[in-house]
Amino acid sequence: MIEIDARLDELEQLGLGRRTRLVSGPQGPRVVLDGKPALLLSSNNYLGLADHPAVREAAADAAMRWGVGAGGSRLASGTMTIHRRLEERLAAFQRRQAALLFGSGYLASLGVIGALARRGDVVFSDELNHPSVVDGCRLSHADVFVYRHGDVEHLEWGLSEAEGRGSLIVTDGVFAGDGALAPLPELVELAHRYDVRLVVDEAHGTGVLGPGGRGAVADAGVEDGVDVIVGTLGKALGAYGAYVACDARMAKYLLHASRSLIYSTAPPPPAVAGALAALSLLEAQPRRVDKLQANALLLRTELARQGFDVAASTMPIVPLDFGAAEDAQRVCEKALERGVFGQAIRPPAVAAGTSRLRLAVMASHSKSELRDAARALAAAVRAAGLRPEELVPVELDEDEFAPTLAVAPPLAVEADPLRSPLWDEGDDELWVERRRPAAAARASAAATGRGGRPFDAELDEPRGPGDQLPAGIFDAESGGSFERAVA
Ligand SMILES: Cc1ncc(COP(=O)(O)O)c(C=O)c1O
Repeated sequence: MIEIDARLDELEQLGLGRRTRLVSGPQGPRVVLDGKPALLLSSNNYLGLADHPAVREAAADAAMRWGVGAGGSRLASGTMTIHRRLEERLAAFQRRQAALLFGSGYLASLGVIGALARRGDVVFSDELNHPSVVDGCRLSHADVFVYRHGDVEHLEWGLSEAEGRGSLIVTDGVFAGDGALAPLPELVELAHRYDVRLVVDEAHGTGVLGPGGRGAVADAGVEDGVDVIVGTLGKALGAYGAYVACDARMAKYLLHASRSLIYSTAPPPPAVAGALAALSLLEAQPRRVDKLQANALLLRTELARQGFDVAASTMPIVPLDFGAAEDAQRVCEKALERGVFGQAIRPPAVAAGTSRLRLAVMASHSKSELRDAARALAAAVRAAGLRPEELVPVELDEDEFAPTLAVAPPLAVEADPLRSPLWDEGDDELWVERRRPAAAARASAAATGRGGRPFDAELDEPRGPGDQLPAGIFDAESGGSFERAVA
């Protein structure tokens, strides 16, 4: 039995203790964190849509119209018209025949990998894939060949050794930890050559890169070579839940074989409606993606100016790598003292003996915030006894430690952010929402063709026989055996 107190003590001693920090108000560029104002450089709300007035309004409206919970799994009574509408929109967005909503990205990975691999198969997984992919591989009961990060030669060796047992290659499109891109054209070629499927997790790709923000697969121009795209609604699309985009036959099969879809409650209508509104904004205003990338490049450039070794890339995930976990933690605390929150990532989320500050840029950050943040982070690193250039211990110089980030005007805790003080110059007209949210809500209603109310009555009406899900296939008993029979 695990000795819980001893284990917690041990983790604290190793510098691996964890706690949650309390954010008051929504996931904006500035938040009140544990009661103090901070610039949020740690949220996956990449496009600033989680706190966008039109998205919030859509979610609130959906709660009044459809209620809060879906009340059942997708195959019971949980598929509501709002789910179907978002699936259609996501399929069109991804230029696929079909999309299926899942409860979360984590659940989607479990469901897809578990459905596409079985005992005796071999799954090929990048060593830096997200834990949801790792857990999906585990639950599939397949043998797993973990190839070195992005190393297509290593992967090819594994494929050639699998003696026909290979069933799928699975990779993050954009790696969550450092924003690196998977070598998708090479993976497509290998999947084709060795006759295995390719699944790409676009959790950090959707809304972040590619034409119209369609992700890393579209960016690489390899849509035809990827069997299943898994995307989340909880990051750039600002809501909660996830989707799988694929062809119609695959979607039908997943409906029969993805345990996390079959045995878990469907996503809540307000989250689905919020994602739908966010998708409309993304489609109507693709410049949001350009702005995100410009911001990412700006932060990287400013960090490089401060001496940090960061790649010149437009990916919004910016890692500052340290060795010891305590260093990352200390820098995180010192940065917070200067009004900047970048989350320290420590083992087991990264390899033992490594740690990092994972910075995440949002399109709604202003240029001056990002410039100030780079200076504050450099000061925090020095205050922690390191140098940005080397991130190794140096002599402390107390004079260097003055806070450099202009601290935001204090917010009342739990204040309504739509009524709270507004901080900074906007960079262009898209960011009017940060200064004048009501005007922004009107502007986005106009841009997305919605006249004030986010939904039309048509949504609640039955749309013919094709609108029905196949019925009666799954109950607790037949569900389990059916998928094995199919597999
Ligand atoms: C690469 C990747 N895949 C999947 C997920 C899980 O998505 P969700 O948060 O919707 O469960 C995450 C979340 O951090 C992720 O980074």
